[in-house]
Amino acid sequence: MLTAVAWPYANGPRHIGHVSGFGVPSDVFSRYRRMAGDRVLMVSGTDEHGTPIQVQADAERLSPRELADKYNKVITTDLQGLGLSYDLFTRTTTSVHYEVVQDLFLALYKNGYVTPRTAMGAISPSTGRTLPDRYVEGTCPLCGYDGARGDQCDNCGNQLDPADLINPRSKINGETPQFVETEHFFLDLPAFADSLGTWLSTRTDWRPNVLKFSTNLVNDLKPRAITRDLDWGVPVPLDGWRDQPMKRLYVWFDAVIGYLSASVEWARRSPDRDAWKQWWTDPSAEGYYFMGKDNIVFHSVIWPALLLGQNGAGDRGGEPGVFGTLNLPSEIVSSEYLTMSGSKFSTSRGTVIYVGDFLREFGPDSLRYFISVAGPENQDTDFTWDEFVRRINFELANEWGNLVNRSISMAHKNVGAIPRPSAPTEADHQLLAVSRAAFDTVGDALGRSRFKQAVTEAMRVVSAANRYLSDQEPWKRADDPDRRDTILHTALQVVQDANTLLTPFLPHAAQQVHESMGGTGVWAAQPEIREVDELAEGPAYPVLTGDYDVEQARWDSIPIEVGRPLAKPTPIFTKLDPELGETGPDWAPIRL
Ligand code: MF3
Ligand code: ZN
Repeated sequence: MLTAVAWPYANGPRHIGHVSGFGVPSDVFSRYRRMAGDRVLMVSGTDEHGTPIQVQADAERLSPRELADKYNKVITTDLQGLGLSYDLFTRTTTSVHYEVVQDLFLALYKNGYVTPRTAMGAISPSTGRTLPDRYVEGTCPLCGYDGARGDQCDNCGNQLDPADLINPRSKINGETPQFVETEHFFLDLPAFADSLGTWLSTRTDWRPNVLKFSTNLVNDLKPRAITRDLDWGVPVPLDGWRDQPMKRLYVWFDAVIGYLSASVEWARRSPDRDAWKQWWTDPSAEGYYFMGKDNIVFHSVIWPALLLGQNGAGDRGGEPGVFGTLNLPSEIVSSEYLTMSGSKFSTSRGTVIYVGDFLREFGPDSLRYFISVAGPENQDTDFTWDEFVRRINFELANEWGNLVNRSISMAHKNVGAIPRPSAPTEADHQLLAVSRAAFDTVGDALGRSRFKQAVTEAMRVVSAANRYLSDQEPWKRADDPDRRDTILHTALQVVQDANTLLTPFLPHAAQQVHESMGGTGVWAAQPEIREVDELAEGPAYPVLTGDYDVEQARWDSIPIEVGRPLAKPTPIFTKLDPELGETGPDWAPIRL
């Protein structure tokens, strides 16, 4: 299974809204599928071209390349800290990416799905220079929102062209842009109306909102420009275009192709340079795509169109390009927005909670847990410190942490090892049945990307075990060590099972619990940052990757080993000061 994770822009540090959209869900899913025995390839990287990068580079007085280098490092570090288990998290400025993007463009060109046309581009009348799309603002022609940008309306989520805006103005100096003729390549989207429509009609297992949204778009397709008047991006690989300093492929065109280029790069760094094909040209290989909702159109319509065009399978036919026949997405998993006090979590509005700050103070698993159990899975969701504190204190610390701690402590104190069970009772059988059954219910929910449901079901096992301990009172059984040991054995077996069920959500804590249970070696593998050489020529760069094959975690109830020595456990979760819920941390205070 391919896990294709949306590429964060390298134009600033990521906030917790970003990683609740693409990051945590994709990693929970991938970890589960690996544990269940799938061969997973999880790829992404930083999105480093186009106006989003240029605007911020100007603001920081850096070149786009310097800006991308700077935030690629920050983002890579944050995602590693969160424990996102990418096989390759790379960037869009690599030689492999340029090569793959250009090859894909050429396949589309040969099949007649991209053609040059004259279009209207914005320039600044006072300087005569091209105004990139993001520098043009105005009223959205579709929803009437006044702060729409030339590339996209943040209010209704539609993609725009600067010439579509009502009352357009330059963001730089407020002047009204002039529109002049300019030559661009267009993707002939209407030539995919039937092929995309047919494909979408087979996507019956998609979430209804994604399917409906995409089907509506496919019923009204217009050609879209895939080049920009810009000097930062992938050049058009054709004579007469290649050397033009102000013509580059559109950032979204190159970014979605990143899924393929990152897979190719991963394979070229592996013993088998064709290994990427197992995830792309084997028709039985699945591809799951994870993103925030503002990215849906690019993944459910544009990217499939590019793939169909490359394959020669659009309405106009053609021949497959150099990549052969590529798989279209199996599933689009999109999240809604994480808001704070009602406003979209964005760096320009509202309070921003950066991932780096969050990790430094609270560690990765508390954020992973919160996003899984209370994140914006199917509706916009407000993040509050109050709820964060409650979830961590009552669910992670009181329920899960406490179960682990008291079960292992009692066994350690009384036996010094995993106790031997004897004559199990009905209560013991019942609890064990609950935890064994959860592998199906939690696994089923995870397989359908129902993360809230999955983690809630897993936590139900934890609550059942805590109730069991309160009922059975092993601490009062000094006179009947056999019964006490049977209870403790049962509790520890359920700790083992619950730890497995929670591993996709809490991989760092899971490793710790594994060790507290006397286990050795890697239970849940973690990504690492490696500095790699550019495969062609160019500077070395950091990537995220990992050796996930060494991981021991399997999606199954693994019987615990009687007699395995147990040390005194250290608590896995510390409780937060309830005051945090009222004030927020000093680096993201609640504004009253
Ligand atoms: N950089 C885009 C964003 O942050 C997402 C790109 S996803 C891609 O919204 F894969 F298409 F690149
Ligand atoms: Zn709009």
